Amino acid sequence: MNSHSFSERAQRAIAECRRIAAMSEEPERITRRFLTSPVREVHALLGQRMEALGMTVSVDAAGNLRGFWQPPNAHGKRFILGSHIDTVPNAGAFDGILGVTMALECVEIAQELALKLPTEIIAFSEEEGVRFGVPFIGSRALAGRFDPALLKLKDADGVTLENAIRAFGLDPGEIGKTAIDNNVLGFLEIHVEQGPVLDAENLSLAVVEGIVGQTRMGFRFTGVANHAGTTPMHLRHDALAGAAEWITKVESFAKSQPGLVATVGKIEGTPNAGNVIPGQIDLSLDLRHMSNRTRHWAIQELTAESRACAQARGVAVEWLIKLDQVTVPLDHYLMHDLDLAVEAAGFPSRRMTSGAGHDAMVMAARVPAAMLFLRSPGGISHHPDETVREEDVTAALAVCDKFLRRLAAEVG
Ligand code: HGY
Ligand code: MN
Ligand code: MN
Repeated sequence: MNSHSFSERAQRAIAECRRIAAMSEEPERITRRFLTSPVREVHALLGQRMEALGMTVSVDAAGNLRGFWQPPNAHGKRFILGSHIDTVPNAGAFDGILGVTMALECVEIAQELALKLPTEIIAFSEEEGVRFGVPFIGSRALAGRFDPALLKLKDADGVTLENAIRAFGLDPGEIGKTAIDNNVLGFLEIHVEQGPVLDAENLSLAVVEGIVGQTRMGFRFTGVANHAGTTPMHLRHDALAGAAEWITKVESFAKSQPGLVATVGKIEGTPNAGNVIPGQIDLSLDLRHMSNRTRHWAIQELTAESRACAQARGVAVEWLIKLDQVTVPLDHYLMHDLDLAVEAAGFPSRRMTSGAGHDAMVMAARVPAAMLFLRSPGGISHHPDETVREEDVTAALAVCDKFLRRLAAEVG
């Protein structure tokens, strides 16, 4: 007995995302960083929805919200659905959270079909890496790959990761115990594409084959702060001029290498005053490519380039690798089941790779992982104009209905 049509479910999943968008650190924008106070509101809303589905609800030591449904007389491995609930600053309303609101609909669909498929929903606590500069804190803990050294990281207010976890009422000492057991059939993350491909081809859905590898670094250019009016040009050691030349080199290098993307997204200057020659510049570098070899070679080229731009001005440069995440192929069996489900639901689909990172790439180290992409209208994401089409959410739910039936039949 279906209590709701797929389109009614799609409307509810989208409405929940818009409701949760208001749960933000900033009144006029969507910003929800790791374990900040709006996360409590999100946990309360999602936890109520999970309890209404008869799921047992918990929050683990890494701040992941988890719901588990054990169907009667089902003895097989559980299947996990989910995505992240943290956002970038001034985010859109669907990146991450849509995967959780759709997972809730999937559990209700499975229950109404009386599928003997134990199912868990995970709302990952931290995927973007905004608050502490490193992504995937929640999924690393679940995949058993959490490095305790991360607990010493500090946010912009000087709060350590360890104290942020304590302040949320959790025990960082328990993080080592959050790794999921192996009694898992697999993991599916439903997510907006965040790029232009499906929109350009007028497709609703794609089955993701692999997730691009990424390197995230911090660079520091150190020159000499001095008076902007009295210091002749040939006597300067201008950190910002060196960094600026390097940033243009990053852009032109990435344009010259097929499949390479490189971004300097964050820049902080000291003393950051109009009449002082910049003494120190801190920059971020986000570099991605499907080939790990090419990505590592590009990093070597660009760090050498940073040294040249610095030396030309008598400026020093140092760097730190914060993340070296390899490219992750997703699970062939789950991809095949998704392809069949898309076909059975009557939709065209295509395979594609993901230029965005996702918790699925970390979970893949522990369990078979798959992703289903929904079209991003205008190819926009990490921006308030990010949106999703109701017809595409409807299509994805119809696919999940077929996919979950297939999984339940396989585990019998
Ligand atoms: O940055 C990313 O790739 C993802 O959207 N967090
Ligand atoms: Mn994102
Ligand atoms: Mn995301």
